Amino acid sequence: MNRGKSMHGMAKARGCSHARLGNFCKMFSSVPSWAEDYGIGNRCEAEQVAAILGGAGGLMHDTGGSSPDSCIPAAYTFFAQFVDHDITLDTESELHGDVLADEAIAELPNLRTVSLDLDCVYGLGPEAMPFLFDQDQEGRLLVGNEHNIHDLPRNRDGRALIGDPRNDENLFVAQMHLLFLRFHNRRLAGRSFEDAQRDVRWHYQWLVWNDFLKRVCDPAIYDYVCREVAQGRYPKCEFKDTCGKLCMPVEFSVAAYRFGHTMVRSHYPANVDYPAIELFDERFGTLGFGPVPPELTVDWRFLLDVDPCQDYTLSKALDHLFADELIRLPDPVVGTASENDRSLAFRNLLRGYVLGLPSGQRVAHALRHKGYPLDDTVDLHFAEIDGWHCLEEDLRKKLAQHTPLFFYLMREAGVLGAGKHLGPVASAILLEVFGAVLLSCDTYLRQPCWQPDACLGGQNFTLAHMVRYVNAA
Ligand code: HEM
Repeated sequence: MNRGKSMHGMAKARGCSHARLGNFCKMFSSVPSWAEDYGIGNRCEAEQVAAILGGAGGLMHDTGGSSPDSCIPAAYTFFAQFVDHDITLDTESELHGDVLADEAIAELPNLRTVSLDLDCVYGLGPEAMPFLFDQDQEGRLLVGNEHNIHDLPRNRDGRALIGDPRNDENLFVAQMHLLFLRFHNRRLAGRSFEDAQRDVRWHYQWLVWNDFLKRVCDPAIYDYVCREVAQGRYPKCEFKDTCGKLCMPVEFSVAAYRFGHTMVRSHYPANVDYPAIELFDERFGTLGFGPVPPELTVDWRFLLDVDPCQDYTLSKALDHLFADELIRLPDPVVGTASENDRSLAFRNLLRGYVLGLPSGQRVAHALRHKGYPLDDTVDLHFAEIDGWHCLEEDLRKKLAQHTPLFFYLMREAGVLGAGKHLGPVASAILLEVFGAVLLSCDTYLRQPCWQPDACLGGQNFTLAHMVRYVNAA
């Protein structure tokens, strides 16, 4: 990838270390990397493996659209992406670079805070970033623009005025961001900005732990973790920087939390008039990072269980397969790129090599050692994967023995989670990180009796309640 070119909507952060909000780190630093175990000699060999698995026509490319539905409403895909953009952003590592040593990873800046504080919505707040706020009403976030009041605020070039540009990467994540802007503005009534911000953050944190993670994680691991939290025996791993601040484990940001990529479908309903548009639909110029045409304003009833009388679309199964749309990402998302670099599956795998991720088997073993009730010798039935038998025998053997973490976790979801939720290893990584975040200071979990507002469903609060509440304004 060329330095300085647009990638994921972000210019590379050369000279941006002042914007560093934390660092990346390893969850399992003493464990050998996948590259060591597999015997990768140089980066070309790593690229070859990434291309076989994640390139166009590779094992992870769902060329025939054969991956089934999960049972998770499609809106959660974009909620998941929105959460990603709240906690992790690496603009420094080189996609085609050499493996980084642990010390270099610990120096790698994360440009988001490892906390569910909605910095992607509030930026650095009204004083430091007044352009995010309505100057006519204190604490109110700007919403809409002259072309569409149901869109993000935008400058005259059409670029969104929001805390993280990635929340304008596709139509649906942009509309998810809008939902949060509106939620804040509704919660502001009768409150100071600070009180409304805290209230919104706590509701959001509740959603992440009690609604979203419960849906996407393996139920046995989720229940185990809830019991451990209640007993004060959580988290099991330690990931803090030298100042004692939480850092962002690459096992999470480069593998486990990229699980949402497999939930993405090629087509989605936008509203009653547009029941199936492409994720990046050229007809409407929605290739990311541009205005939402009024006719495509998203009606969440078609992607979420908001209205009992309305059928809604589900996310694609959580498995090793990627929709074609993500194997051929458009220019605004990845810049001018080679065929392989356009593939998100290839990028995830190669980035995993550069950041020295261990194999799936190694991570499973390490988590079991920490006490997680999981089988670290589980059979992931690789031989049943389409195209597996076309690989050379030696390659098959090595891949099955030392599986790149991202591929392992997605295969685990397909086999052990039946495509409906993540498997135990991916779930444990997610819960470790979100658990550590929520058990740190000023979160709803730290407040003895806090629970969501009764008008939002109280303890039953879900994303659908939020949509109904915002729409009722
Ligand atoms: C909806 C369409 C999506 C698109 C087009 C997209 C695109 C991308 C791209 C281009 C990258 C950078 C890849 C690299 O160079 O390494 C990325 C990173 C990432 N994505 Fe997605 N993504 C999508 C959805 C999601 C979802 C649903 C999730 C979460 C469940 C997610 C989680 C992540 C994470 C954790 C990263 C790494 C962020 C960082 O640390 O910089 N993405 N995505």
